[in-house]
Amino acid sequence: MIHSSADARRLAKRRLPWMVFDYIDGAAGADEAGAARNRAAFDALTLRPRILRDVSERDLSAEVFGKRTKAPFGISPMGMCNLSGPGADRMLARLAAREEVPLGVSTVASTPLEDLIEEAQGNAWFQLYFTGDGSETFKLVERAKAAGYETLVLTVDVPEVGRRPRELRHGFTMPFRIGPRQFLDFALHPRWSISSLLAGKPDMANFQMDGFAFDRTASRAKADWSTLARLREAWPGNLVVKGVLDAEDAGRLKAEGVDAIQVSSHGARQLESAPAPIRVLPDIRQAVGADFPLFYDTGLRSGEDVVKAYSQGATFTFLGRVLQFAIAAGGEDGLDRLWSILKSETSITLAQIGATALPPEV
Ligand SMILES: Cc1cc2nc3c(=O)[nH]c(=O)nc-3n(C[C@H](O)[C@H](O)[C@H](O)COP(=O)(O)O)c2cc1C
Repeated sequence: MIHSSADARRLAKRRLPWMVFDYIDGAAGADEAGAARNRAAFDALTLRPRILRDVSERDLSAEVFGKRTKAPFGISPMGMCNLSGPGADRMLARLAAREEVPLGVSTVASTPLEDLIEEAQGNAWFQLYFTGDGSETFKLVERAKAAGYETLVLTVDVPEVGRRPRELRHGFTMPFRIGPRQFLDFALHPRWSISSLLAGKPDMANFQMDGFAFDRTASRAKADWSTLARLREAWPGNLVVKGVLDAEDAGRLKAEGVDAIQVSSHGARQLESAPAPIRVLPDIRQAVGADFPLFYDTGLRSGEDVVKAYSQGATFTFLGRVLQFAIAAGGEDGLDRLWSILKSETSITLAQIGATALPPEV
């Protein structure tokens, strides 16, 4: 039974092949010190419990680009989600539709971007990786526009894919290369293997069309400020830049006309020595001013974490790995269960600190 995100992770660890679990759970560096730093930073922050304030009516909604959500968090873009369970992308899309929260549709999603915005009933944002010389990238932008996407998220913290030794040790590649070690791994996790086999192996669906090619590990290093300017020209809708950890960069992004910034260390998957994003959030808030939309992801594991992110300056938050663990642990029911647990944890936390809405008034 899932009672917390830690329960979902524990069950996922049991059910997923090691290769898949460590691809999702892994972080940058041999010691994954960045992931530990994030956790320690959240734990070191405390919330101030205030009393006798009538907190009987509490509102968990947030406003994102002029729309009200039903939850204080959305779904961060994650590549190849169907590895956590067949149909995972679509489960997440249905959840986004129900909760009226943004679903981040990764460049390397397992399901075509056109299908996901439909399943999410419009509650989907397209996440873009700049790759190679950019020609594929700008084709994808046009495709997203044609599919009806109104918000584009440019991820900037992957100039090169970070080395994640836990993932590399199992020989994780897409498409799978199945040697004796992987064969044993799949054989020891039959529930996952049989259902994934029946569903057809997960792939990078946005590239199975004529004229599209993508190498997950290809360099994305050529992007610079002129790329952003070009994208700003090409994209009339909302433009979000994800993976920002520096106040100076944030100030420049605002000046360049982006509509929102997402503070994130990519779930500690890129630079092991990156600062904990929750620590730099207040400085970034200061750099962009009180009213600028500032989103946060990385390391959110509980409702208390979510409330902390809002109290440090976020106007909206995004969940990552925990959602994939919930799917691996219990399919769509597991996902819905963890989502409602996190909402209820957030609501209870607000009550304990004498607040009725986000961001909490302190
Ligand atoms: C398995 C996996 C795949 C991911 N793929 C992408 C991606 O394709 N694009 C992207 O912008 N971020 C990607 N991310 C990063 C997430 O959007 C998010 O920043 C991160 O997971 C948040 O940290 P958390 O998992 O600790 O909550 C991925 C993360 C994971 C765990």
